[in-house]
Amino acid sequence: MIGKLNHVAIAVNDLDAAVSLYRDVMGAKVSEATEQPDHGVITVFVELPNTKIELLYPLGADSPIAGFLAKNKSGGIHHICYEVDDIHAARDRLLAAGMRILGSGEPRIGAHGKPILFLHPKDFCGTLVELEEV
Ligand code: CO
Repeated sequence: MIGKLNHVAIAVNDLDAAVSLYRDVMGAKVSEATEQPDHGVITVFVELPNTKIELLYPLGADSPIAGFLAKNKSGGIHHICYEVDDIHAARDRLLAAGMRILGSGEPRIGAHGKPILFLHPKDFCGTLVELEEV
């Protein structure tokens, strides 16, 4: 069911420093910062030959990553994103297996303009998992 690793998301407390780290120190191609008001974050994508790193920085007072960053002062891996062909079929299969979908359970449009879902970390080895239909 799952396909490629689409990205690994890292929450950061200093976006400029993280961009400089990946662009200047690591020599990666780094996107412009994009505000995602529907998701309460600013995103920057680091393009690697085989996947992407999504740098996440809080946007607004009730950003969903604020609590994570309060606990992880240096930032940290926030979630991983797997690609699926059909997000509704993937959701139904996971629900039938007893897995929990976060939020309403309906896919919403993610940072790439594609339908996404988040899965409960307790069902996935302590890892927050995003599914993206590609
Ligand atoms: Co993501």
